[in-house]
Amino acid sequence: MTLILGIETSCDETAAAVVANGRHILSNIVASQMEIHRPYGGVFPELASRQHVLSIVPVIRDALSTADVSWDDIDAVAVVHGPGLTGSLVVGVNVAKALALSHDWPLIGINHLEAHIYANWLVEKQVFEEGGPEEGAPEEGGEKGNVESSPAVAQQEPDPPEFPLLCLVVSGGHTELVLMRDHGTYEVLGRTIDDAAGEAFDKVGRLLGLEYPGGPAIEKAAMEGDPSAYNFPRAWLKESYDFSFSGLKTAVLRKVQSFEKQQPGGPKRKLVTSIPQRIKRQLSIADLAASFQAAVVDVLVEKTARAAEEYKVQEVILAGGVAANASLRDAMKRRVSLPVRCPPTRWCTDNAAMVAATGYFHYLAGDRAGWDLDVIPSLLIG
Ligand code: KG4
Ligand code: ZN
Repeated sequence: MTLILGIETSCDETAAAVVANGRHILSNIVASQMEIHRPYGGVFPELASRQHVLSIVPVIRDALSTADVSWDDIDAVAVVHGPGLTGSLVVGVNVAKALALSHDWPLIGINHLEAHIYANWLVEKQVFEEGGPEEGAPEEGGEKGNVESSPAVAQQEPDPPEFPLLCLVVSGGHTELVLMRDHGTYEVLGRTIDDAAGEAFDKVGRLLGLEYPGGPAIEKAAMEGDPSAYNFPRAWLKESYDFSFSGLKTAVLRKVQSFEKQQPGGPKRKLVTSIPQRIKRQLSIADLAASFQAAVVDVLVEKTARAAEEYKVQEVILAGGVAANASLRDAMKRRVSLPVRCPPTRWCTDNAAMVAATGYFHYLAGDRAGWDLDVIPSLLIG
């Protein structure tokens, strides 16, 4: 059994995890800073790095004790070194180096986006401990793999993802359509040319006066709304697999502004940054949220489905914070005729189990970082 300690501090979650053989989660500790950043409506970089300094040691200790393993049981440490916030990444990388030096462990540098993809390899503890009845392969077009598990029900351990596969990585900073023919090989078929999908959710959430982060808040508001209430634009960008969400964000802004203009006395300001209370009472936030979400989901799903057909992949997997969105998950399963795999929602957002899983495959490949491992805030994949 190979045990990897994963460390993640790229943004606003301080996380450490112990994963066995790249799949089995022995522990997965996440100290969220959400409440610290909420008053600012987004991540405040300096506060984030300082909070990582305070949280990282207790979080790592917790990861080892929850996994019930000692320092000597660990085979290697894997740490995210980009992309992300410089001051935040530095904390994780330096702690990982100190641990590797003092325990004589191999040090492995991990790309955060790659780690999101590897959340699809993870298996819940009670699934691999208890096992379950032998059953056939997952249904075509159905959710495959890491289904949210109930502690009372033993499940069969899912097969790992099959190559070649297509992965849609949708997070706060990135939107990438990635073809994976094997472990560690990434061909980016398309990416956003402006805002990331999560960034669009966050900006529109702020505009609509919803709480931070915008993604879950919009999803919740949209449940009460009509997705066809407003026909917001979809940026198809012709035959390309690239994405663009800034026009959509502006269209929501214009809709709010035009409504404000029709009000007696007209707008008091040139640009709406957050919807005023008096407008909020009249415009349906739920309809705006549902229509915006539908426009994002349509483009993500359609481009992924077309690429899956063109590249004849075995399955489609989703990754990153926006992959927690139920409307995206459901629409993808309806549209794609191949198996669609989504990690449980808690593994879509930032965590260290996905880092440890990625680290295992790099460990097997013999990848080792030197003491010159640096943080790369704009590290790309592929
Ligand atoms: O992957 P992640 O945790 O961090 C980054 O690597 O960026 O993704 C965070 C992003 C945020 O933009 C957040 O609003 C979005 O994921 N998000 C969602 C949902 N949950 C998180 N977007 C849409 N629907 C959700 N349920
Ligand atoms: Zn992330």
